[in-house]
Amino acid sequence: MDGKIITVGSTKGGVGKTTLALNIAIARAMAGRDVWLIDADRQGTASTALAIRGEAGKLPAIATAHYADGGQLRTQLQHQRGKFQDIVIDAGGRDSTALRAALVLSDLVLVPFQPRSIDVWAVADIAALIEEARAVRDGLQALGVLNMADTAGSDNEDAAAALADYPAIRYLATPIRRRKSIANAAGNGLSVLEQTPRDDKAIAELNALLQAIY
Ligand SMILES: Nc1ncnc2c1ncn2[C@@H]1O[C@H](COP(=O)(O)OP(=O)(O)O)[C@@H](O)[C@H]1O
Ligand SMILES: [Mg+2]
Repeated sequence: MDGKIITVGSTKGGVGKTTLALNIAIARAMAGRDVWLIDADRQGTASTALAIRGEAGKLPAIATAHYADGGQLRTQLQHQRGKFQDIVIDAGGRDSTALRAALVLSDLVLVPFQPRSIDVWAVADIAALIEEARAVRDGLQALGVLNMADTAGSDNEDAAAALADYPAIRYLATPIRRRKSIANAAGNGLSVLEQTPRDDKAIAELNALLQAIY
């Protein structure tokens, strides 16, 4: 779908928002799409990663901007959205004007969460914000995805089951597991699709997630 705006959002930090936003944006750009990655986190982690990518001269180059203020994010999105085919917003890890603006302007919010019950409870906050945003943005889709999922054990299933307590967010059965290749790639402003040595399992997980989203 053209012009899809995706926010990777959670009020919790460290769940993998920036990592997933980078991977999604770069993967779409590698597929030939005009992509804009908006860093809506004051901390600017995504901007830093893309600056490293730019300094290394890595292609495709990813258009990016940093708007930590909700009003500025709204204005710029409304002004520039027509120039891009895919827009990915990396939201900050707490309730902010930027997160709220991003939600009401998005077609889809992707909520990463981790396979620990405490992290699943953190989903309650973003679920409430999504419900609020829907009062304004009718049809906002919300998908929950396990990130840093365990490679073994039943924690993943327990976490997925716990998400059922939040009907505002639909569970996506395309978990991304905890993998060094993913962390290493993102630190260099790369998608795991570009990482060497190649991690086929990580690539398959990302591709499954992309297919579920787009
Ligand atoms: N699937 C993953 N496997 C391994 N490490 C990950 C994965 N996703 C994120 N990380 C690491 O977890 C930390 C937090 O991720 P980050 O994307 O910065 O979270 P957020 O943006 O939600 O604060 C980072 O050090 C990142 O490299
Ligand atoms: Mg982040």
